[in-house]
Amino acid sequence: MHNDIKEILFTTEQIEAKAAELAKQLEIDYADKKPILLGLLKGSIPFIGDLMKHMNIPVQIEFMDVSSYHGGTTSSGQVKILKDLDTSVENRHIIIVEDIVDTGFTLDKVIALLKHRGAASVEVVTMLDKPEGRVVVMEPKYIGFNIPKAFVVGYGLDYDEYYRNLPYVGILKEEVYMN
Ligand code: XMP
Ligand code: MG
Repeated sequence: MHNDIKEILFTTEQIEAKAAELAKQLEIDYADKKPILLGLLKGSIPFIGDLMKHMNIPVQIEFMDVSSYHGGTTSSGQVKILKDLDTSVENRHIIIVEDIVDTGFTLDKVIALLKHRGAASVEVVTMLDKPEGRVVVMEPKYIGFNIPKAFVVGYGLDYDEYYRNLPYVGILKEEVYMN
């Protein structure tokens, strides 16, 4: 285990098994819909990789980069689009792939934007959910695991752009971001 990690919450095996399970449900729900799997960069990269390889239906993979965190551990509520989609979502079924839902600001903004652009439907699949952190109403339809209100890293999740490469989700030691 990495020295900055206090506790491992989910191992690679646990996350991959959960992703496969969610992918099978998406396969059923989107069998004839040719959905767009829309990964939010950069945190969703490992999880979208796990999901897509278990979805044996026609699916388009796209990415967007939005940001509500500015190097810290709390959400600012201001969501900026850093990289937009380069394909039309009009009349398309969109499955947003997220690493974690906390306040809900990020998804609230992205969902509103996609609907404004004429998406036929918008749902969310998230690896992790921190329901205690919620500020706006946001209920992802597909959730991997619920976690308590701790700051976690790994499996795509970062602190100041590091730790995304850890092959598990773990709680970061407080002293790492306190000093
Ligand atoms: P909101 O608050 O908009 O947050 O729902 C969603 C985004 O915030 C980041 N986030 C975290 N990143 N560890 C992280 O590394 C965490 O515990 C955490 N909580 C929220 C994440 O980028 C997510 O997309
Ligand atoms: Mg994110």
